[in-house]
Amino acid sequence: MARFIIAKDYDDMSEKAAMLFSKQINKKDNSLLGLATGSSPIGVYKNLIEWNKQGLIDFSAVKTVSLDEYVGLDADNPQSYRYFMNDNLFNHINIRMENTHVPFGAAQDVDKETKEYEKRIEMLGGIDIQLLGIGRNAHIGFNEPTDNFETATHIVTLDENTREANARFFDSIDEVPTKAITMGIGTIMHARKIVLVSYGENKADALYKAFFENTNPLVPASILQYHADVTVVADKAAMGRILDSGIEFNGY
Ligand code: GLP
Repeated sequence: MARFIIAKDYDDMSEKAAMLFSKQINKKDNSLLGLATGSSPIGVYKNLIEWNKQGLIDFSAVKTVSLDEYVGLDADNPQSYRYFMNDNLFNHINIRMENTHVPFGAAQDVDKETKEYEKRIEMLGGIDIQLLGIGRNAHIGFNEPTDNFETATHIVTLDENTREANARFFDSIDEVPTKAITMGIGTIMHARKIVLVSYGENKADALYKAFFENTNPLVPASILQYHADVTVVADKAAMGRILDSGIEFNGY
């Protein structure tokens, strides 16, 4: 059963989740962090930047791997996830850029890139702690609802629902790529710890289905019920459906 931390609001969620990352880095200075994009993790990164500036955490030996990237966008494209990671975290902390890994969406041979990315994560020693957001359709990374869980890093065709949700970052929906590279469900499940952040009522259904209904590849995040160390940090709105169902939480 996942641990749930119910946060007061977005800032509280961000601080509580960031604490789990800072603890990990302070315990193991060369941790491999699995990182996510989207609006949910931005506040986590802001806290980590702040604490790094204050000298409370040191990223000089830290390594990172990102969950996903759009196919066809390179690092200079402001909508690419490499750009997002540089802009929201890496450019503001004392990490070595060569220790940051994001799938290369503009690779000539994207199939080869997916295989190499999976190997790279293994060679880096495996993910110590993985940050996740959750899509409205319960996708994690870009693992969209399908008939079967795809285990390794692979290429996906994005759901129209996901493209619509992400269109807010682009000038128009036509510019949202149709494909992405994503860590697979197996890649994510191999992480030693997982922290999922979620806020806002538009995530309430996804969160409920992921953790309180049967595991089903049509609800990709539901696989997390089988992971031994998952912490969900969510605000009251995202927890709405779970709390309404009368499930009781001890201590949080
Ligand atoms: C994208 C990312 C996911 C993220 C999701 C939700 O599709 N690939 O990793 O969890 O968006 O984003 P947000 O946090 O902005 O709702």
